[in-house]
Amino acid sequence: NSFCTLLVVDTTIAMALLDNEVSLGGLVAGAAAFFVVRAVLRAKLRVWASGPKLYRLSREDSPVPEKIGRFWYFLMGDAANFYMSGLEAGATHKHYGVLARKKCGSTAAIAAFTFGPKTELLVTNPIDVRHALLDAPEDFSKDESITFLHPLLGKKGLIALIDEREHTKQLRNVSHAFSPLNIKCIAATTMREHLMSFVAEIRQNEKEIPDVPAAVRKVTLAVIADAAFGVDRDSPQLDRLNEEFRFFPSPLMLVGPKLFNALPLARHRRDRSLRAHIMGILQSALTRRAHDPQKDEHEKHARLIDFMAENKSMHSSDMLDHVCTFAFAGHDTTTAALTWLVFAIASDKRVQSKLAEELSDLFGLNAPPPVDALMNDAPYLRACIDEGLRYHNVVSGIQRVPLRDVVLPGSDTFVRAGTMLQIPITFLHRDETVWGPDAETYRPERWIEDPGLRARVTPCSYMPFSVGKRACLGKDFAMHELVLTLAVIVRNFELAWPEGQAKPFRQQCAVVQAKEAFKVDMVLRAA
Ligand code: HEM
Repeated sequence: NSFCTLLVVDTTIAMALLDNEVSLGGLVAGAAAFFVVRAVLRAKLRVWASGPKLYRLSREDSPVPEKIGRFWYFLMGDAANFYMSGLEAGATHKHYGVLARKKCGSTAAIAAFTFGPKTELLVTNPIDVRHALLDAPEDFSKDESITFLHPLLGKKGLIALIDEREHTKQLRNVSHAFSPLNIKCIAATTMREHLMSFVAEIRQNEKEIPDVPAAVRKVTLAVIADAAFGVDRDSPQLDRLNEEFRFFPSPLMLVGPKLFNALPLARHRRDRSLRAHIMGILQSALTRRAHDPQKDEHEKHARLIDFMAENKSMHSSDMLDHVCTFAFAGHDTTTAALTWLVFAIASDKRVQSKLAEELSDLFGLNAPPPVDALMNDAPYLRACIDEGLRYHNVVSGIQRVPLRDVVLPGSDTFVRAGTMLQIPITFLHRDETVWGPDAETYRPERWIEDPGLRARVTPCSYMPFSVGKRACLGKDFAMHELVLTLAVIVRNFELAWPEGQAKPFRQQCAVVQAKEAFKVDMVLRAA
């Protein structure tokens, strides 16, 4: 045991020193605690879940066992695959899901494994998924891993809240800002204005969009900052958010969120300073609002800060958490989704010309995008986006934990309270038993050729925005933004994937992002 502990300490120190993030004392304590907890939990795995369709994974079941040494697998479990396999986001879960089904001879199979100190169950059967998210949501909560976001987003923002009563209260405080009418107004004013400047900016480059993820991030951040808080597009306040508002996984997270968030890491200092910066933005927005009520009366839509400012019982620290949450969730996700959509369209000439033809009937070059027509009368555009959110899903999975012992009805699996259920959206979206043999192909036509598809796959085989009480509050906002942005890009420019440029790698951060910057060639469309 002490030999192993020493090894753990050594390797954890090495990892942390590479990250240049932590003091030696903190590391020793953290690594020792991690080792003990991991050993105890692993010993308990046998009794945490049981059932006829449960398949327990071992190192040999890794998609790349040759890369994952025995020691590393013993130490980290599936986390060794996450950090060492070099595979794309979601690939390991896909491999595990298929393997478990094969071993159990049933599509209801569940794979059990450890991730660091945690036991996880991979739930790929839509009946079990439905049970956890829709049929018995009162028996499940979010998993504590979501609290890794606390240093960046605070504890009261909706995404990072575990306590369901507090969640209901906070949701009531902010949900009005996302009413369908308000979102429609935001799309017709703020989104359109920003997109027209975006087009003008891209036109200046003439032949290419040199860094697609960065160009898209700039516009999505500007849209949410303006729509929710009234921050100007050209405000220098946005530059810092653009550069620093990110979340990256770290191997140190294997010690668990409580210890990790308490460690004296450089990233936590960065997050604190960024939150102070955002507090400054919030305060100046509130001051502007107080001094210029006339302006607000003439606004076409209400902003998030308008709702918060009118709620006299809302504490300023809660406001900050909401601001951080909406600014982060409202641009990181849409940036990723649009990045993958541009990749998909630029690399498929056939899809692009069909889409361009549909759009040319709806609006002119350099003209503002018509919101209603694009949302309701552009079936191919909608199919391109639905297919993008399926095949290039940006949230690779969600997690739920039973609050009491439960039986999952699809697989007849008994699950002890506290065991983490991993719902792998990537797997569900690429499941050949649902989507057919071309599940691993981006093909928008599937949404049009098969009129029954939407009803068949909704809600638990296709859920880019999740479903149930913790589903995405910004879904409508996001769909308007994706529809308008993709439409203005394809209407104005012919895109092409540069010869020889590698396909972007799907990297798991807070969402699935392109690991490296990429460019696309472009030509202005003729009228
Ligand atoms: C393509 C874009 C987006 C995708 C794919 C996406 C996906 C998701 C998913 C899957 C969840 C649920 C996580 C879970 O069940 O554990 C979620 C939650 C959430 N999203 Fe989004 N999202 C997107 C855009 C947005 C936007 C634009 C906003 C805000 C403007 C937003 C705000 C939120 C919030 C506040 C929650 C937490 C809801 C709650 O727990 O009550 N999202 N999102």
